[in-house]
Amino acid sequence: MLNTKPLCPAFGLEASGVDVSGALSDAAFDEIARTFFAAQILVLRDQRLTPQQYLAFARRFGPPEPHVIDQFHHPEEANILILSNRRKDGQPIGLADAGTYFHTDYSYLQVPARATMLYSIEVPKAGGNTLFANQYAAYDDLPDAMKRRIAPLIAVHHYGNRKVADEMSRVAASPLTDEQKAKMPLITHPLVRAHPVTGRKALYAVSGSSYGIVGMPEEEAVALLDELAAHATQPKYVLSYAYRVGDVVIWDNASLLHSATLTDPDDPRTLWRITIKEPSSKLDALEVLAPTFAAQAM
Ligand code: SIN
Repeated sequence: MLNTKPLCPAFGLEASGVDVSGALSDAAFDEIARTFFAAQILVLRDQRLTPQQYLAFARRFGPPEPHVIDQFHHPEEANILILSNRRKDGQPIGLADAGTYFHTDYSYLQVPARATMLYSIEVPKAGGNTLFANQYAAYDDLPDAMKRRIAPLIAVHHYGNRKVADEMSRVAASPLTDEQKAKMPLITHPLVRAHPVTGRKALYAVSGSSYGIVGMPEEEAVALLDELAAHATQPKYVLSYAYRVGDVVIWDNASLLHSATLTDPDDPRTLWRITIKEPSSKLDALEVLAPTFAAQAM
């Protein structure tokens, strides 16, 4: 049995006494996966992982997808993106300020992220928290009229932060090279999604990369997205997580928005990130995970 304790009353669990560096039995992984999908955020404390061990564990959740910002891929494993404000010989060693606004990972891709993992290598003396906003609760609390209004709506997404046009701002999306930009199409996702594993409805990516709504005039669409984003990121839905070295934090992108917070650039913070795609077909998702979650729900 995983030994867990809540991160806050509504969601998020931390587990101790688990070592994910070696081969996990199917039963042990199953328990981790079930706990994760029920909790939305799972923190595994006190891990010591090589890049290869970290990636092997991540792959149990699904296929990893390397980040478009390839200049900060880990030299040994391209599926790991280095998040860091450290510099070597005047050059950044990683991506600083990765997503300092509420968003959900890879919502600008046709196959979005199932889970993101951060492995904490060094923590700053002050701050460096990640904020998580619970989009199941945000959806549940909407008035019925709003639920009916948004049920059929499809949002248009693109890499970026709708709220900040200046690419060099610390609260903009991390800038892309021209070559990287060319790989970023316009894509669409429902504004309300049934979670691919739990089936529960959540608001999806109302903040961050959603720039419009199919068939709706731009001004009206942005006003609606802004209204939903303001609702969905109220403090009552938000958990602020403070890292310890050795944490592996796994979050569920289909039911959460998250945001990095601004840290002093001279106060070192380094994490390794792996992003896991949603399975390419519903069938994969059902075969791999639905039965275990159903067992949990009973
Ligand atoms: C991310 O959004 O991937 C990074 C979160 C953080 O650095 O706190």
